[in-house]
Amino acid sequence: MKGVLLAGGTGSRLYPLTRITNKHLLPIGDKPMVSYAIEALVIAGVTEIMVVTGGTHAGEFLRLLSNGHEFGVERLSYAYQDKAGGIADALGLAERFVGDERVVVMLADNVLERSFRPSVERFADQKEGGRLLLAEVENPQHLRHLGVPELDAAGTIVRVVEKPEVPPSRYAVTGIYLYDPSVFSIIPRLVRSGRGELEITDVNNHFIDAGTMEYDVIEGFWGDAGESIDAYYAVNDHVRRHGANHA
Ligand code: G1P
Repeated sequence: MKGVLLAGGTGSRLYPLTRITNKHLLPIGDKPMVSYAIEALVIAGVTEIMVVTGGTHAGEFLRLLSNGHEFGVERLSYAYQDKAGGIADALGLAERFVGDERVVVMLADNVLERSFRPSVERFADQKEGGRLLLAEVENPQHLRHLGVPELDAAGTIVRVVEKPEVPPSRYAVTGIYLYDPSVFSIIPRLVRSGRGELEITDVNNHFIDAGTMEYDVIEGFWGDAGESIDAYYAVNDHVRRHGANHA
């Protein structure tokens, strides 16, 4: 299974912290943010990784991560996104790298207390399609800034709603997505959303409509450090107290 780490975007929700750098290079605890995502993939058993980034700080990722060996990565590749076109657009750049394998896609601003290795293992046994990692979120206001799944009485995902006014469940769709290679035939069919992006939520809804999307509810803390300055500091506080990526 290949890994694709998405580390682009303008980081506008963290302005002015991100005026002079890429948000994934900001510190969390004692390391740059992106290091946690690399570590999470390696601990999950994924050691062939492509980092997709853009903007004027792409070179800093090379300086920080180099060939990845220090982090336990066997093969580290890089792709450059020349415009911030959304998560699904960035994933499209990894098509040839992923080839006919399955892929774990991770947003490099997502930080987890516990390793998601069990989901990767379950996905290896899954026949086809995709797999989402959901996290329970206490505050419904918070869910309005995220993707939220609607579940039926049997617990099957009916659809994902991006940034809903009224969240249809108490779960967030985290930024860790497991896909079979058919994901690359979905991306060219997407239409840009209101924020001008190719949305990963639309990709997920394709798999849901095909009846091939499964999910796990993760245990332990999950945070999207790029969501807001408050979220960034909440993730920092949690990581400094409890660490991250525990087995
Ligand atoms: C993205 C996804 C959203 C998901 C979130 C997790 O949001 O669109 O569905 O819940 O990542 O970090 P964005 O950061 O693009 O607003």
